[in-house]
Amino acid sequence: MDFEKEKKARKLAIWVIGIMTGIWIILSVFSFTDTKERVRPRTENIHFNGVSALKGKQVFQAYNCMDCHTIVGNGAYFAPDLTKIYEQAGPAWLKAYLGSPGTYPTKTIVDIQLKQLLSKGEDLPKDIDAYLEKYSGAHDRVEHRGGVDALMPNLQFSAEEIDALIAYFIYTGKINTAGWPPKVIADKSVIEDQARKLEEASGIIRTSSASSAPSSGVENNTAQTTESPAAIGANLAKQLACTACHSADGSAVVGPSFKGLFGSSVPLTTGNSVNADEEYLRRSILQPNADIVKDYQQGVMPSFEGSVSEEQVNALIEYIKSLK
Ligand code: HEC
Ligand code: HEC
Repeated sequence: MDFEKEKKARKLAIWVIGIMTGIWIILSVFSFTDTKERVRPRTENIHFNGVSALKGKQVFQAYNCMDCHTIVGNGAYFAPDLTKIYEQAGPAWLKAYLGSPGTYPTKTIVDIQLKQLLSKGEDLPKDIDAYLEKYSGAHDRVEHRGGVDALMPNLQFSAEEIDALIAYFIYTGKINTAGWPPKVIADKSVIEDQARKLEEASGIIRTSSASSAPSSGVENNTAQTTESPAAIGANLAKQLACTACHSADGSAVVGPSFKGLFGSSVPLTTGNSVNADEEYLRRSILQPNADIVKDYQQGVMPSFEGSVSEEQVNALIEYIKSLK
């Protein structure tokens, strides 16, 4: 009798284990096929102009692009992440850029590449304006950097290598990165907070200059707790990453130091000099390519036109003025 019971129990146990093993195998197969599709589209199946993405991957490795760039965050942080570059800029911009990485392509040059690709039967928007509308990254690059010197070395690719790299970027563009890399946008709340503080500060300056007006105790209190425009400018210089390129101690980083700049005579690439007054500082921040300081290059400093308010520019100027 006991023996029969044991036999039944063992049979049941074998069934349970069998079913669980079955479920485990099925789930494993599912998870494997799923991730394979999601993370690893196949390089062999993706082509551009008849060249495979697998070839592109080899070119990418042969030229050590990863020494400067990242793909899904892997690589060096010297140059932009390239995972989604195809979706952003499209093949005509990439052809133009990789063909001459010493300079950012202008609209005309992208148009020439687009016409060539269309003549080869590539499925692309029929004219340059439609192309720039579809690939907004190409639009932005043409608009803001077209014709400007680029920092990337000219690696003298062959036409086939360029097509291979474009195929590789089509492939990386298909990788589901779950939104990576994050879009770098200035933290609006910080900038608004700064703008509010500035308004307060300039309000104080206005009240205190009208010295005949009797000031209440409340105003005096705010006057003590509100930062000066120069201090706000110093903070802003950090938030806008001016300090990544400009030092406050006289050492040259990527750009000239702010120390002693105000009121000095700045030598320009043209051979002329300019007096660094407020107007010059303002122009340097809003139109950095208007004057280029001697021994420095055009196109390195981004323009802050439209991304900073009038009051913020004033605060930055006050900050630079304070570094004697
Ligand atoms: C020595 C560093 C370096 C190497 C190596 C390098 N790049 Fe770059 N690349 C840069 C820099 C810096 C930039 C962006 C700034 C500029 O061009 O002014 C850039 C920009 C780019 C851009 C445009 C990105 C954009 O968002 O506009 C592409 C595309 C690109 N590189 C592709 C490549 C490929 C492909 C390789 C390898 C075959 C490569 N790079 C190797 C430094 C490098
Ligand atoms: C990516 C690097 C970079 C960043 C970021 C940057 N700059 Fe510059 N800046 C430069 C370079 C390079 C020059 C010199 C070439 C030129 O004149 O454009 C320059 C020039 C200047 C000059 C003229 C300096 C002189 O000696 O005459 C001023 C003023 C200035 N920048 C202010 C700013 C401010 C303010 C910010 C932030 C809002 C900023 N820069 C952000 C690179 C940068």
